[in-house]
Amino acid sequence: MSAVGSAAVAAELAVSARDVRRTFGEREVLRGIDLRFGRGEFVALLGRSGSGKSTFLRALAGLDSGVEGEIRVPKRRSVVFQDARLLPWASVLDNVVLGLSGQGVSGKTAKESGRAMLAEVGLDGHEHDWPKTLSGGEAQRAALARALVRDPQLLLLDEPFGALDALTRVRMHALVQQLHARYRPAVLLVTHDVDEAVLLADRVLVLTEGVISLDITVDVSSPRLRSDPGFIALRAQLLAELGVDESAEGNHPPTTNENTPTTNTGALQ
Ligand SMILES: Nc1ncnc2c1ncn2[C@@H]1O[C@H](COP(=O)(O)OP(=O)(O)O)[C@@H](O)[C@H]1O
Ligand SMILES: [Mg+2]
Repeated sequence: MSAVGSAAVAAELAVSARDVRRTFGEREVLRGIDLRFGRGEFVALLGRSGSGKSTFLRALAGLDSGVEGEIRVPKRRSVVFQDARLLPWASVLDNVVLGLSGQGVSGKTAKESGRAMLAEVGLDGHEHDWPKTLSGGEAQRAALARALVRDPQLLLLDEPFGALDALTRVRMHALVQQLHARYRPAVLLVTHDVDEAVLLADRVLVLTEGVISLDITVDVSSPRLRSDPGFIALRAQLLAELGVDESAEGNHPPTTNENTPTTNTGALQ
């Protein structure tokens, strides 16, 4: 049975998934995922490349008709992928508001909301630009604006910072934190970057062999610093769960200033 429900999530829950399975040919990629998380909660999903993170995210997004199990998610949900997926023939503003007309929002109101959201992500003045003129970071900001302008109850992020350089990624982390604090959507962030997960999420999950093998609350005081002993301990625990030998991978905790972008982010290659 496949049941991707929209309306029937309990009031305080954003996501309820039970025994979610997905098989491609002979390969069972998701082998019974159970997960519940609440409104406004920020959850990160870690896993090695090919472990099924995107498959699970697509299942929650309602983009996969071949998934089995029971999935209950809110009606208003948005997805941001690693590539911005902006339509090249439409202006940045038109890209942002494209989905709104289907929600019964008038053109004028949509454009006003779109402009406000572009300002919010730091893209004011770029409304009439063509997507191809944007940098990678700006394009992802536009994709975030497009996702948030619909006021999603669930925001699904599939490695949205994966293709960005280290400095841009640091800025995007700050932006996502700020937007989450302001709009409070439930977030599922798929990433293979351990530090990114610990920096941003309330709770971190690890997907191993098709099941959630670790589900852990992030208990690191704010602002979260990579040098914090709690951060270091959690990073070590997550890397171990992912089967990464910290010393061999050069994942020593950085000793540099927190504001200095570092390539040593605990990312799995
Ligand atoms: N549409 C598909 N058809 C066949 N195999 C797929 C399909 N989508 C994903 N897979 C396989 O499922 C596994 C998990 O993929 P994915 O969810 O993209 O992993 P991740 O996002 O964790 O890197 C991979 O082995 C991938 O090749
Ligand atoms: Mg993926």
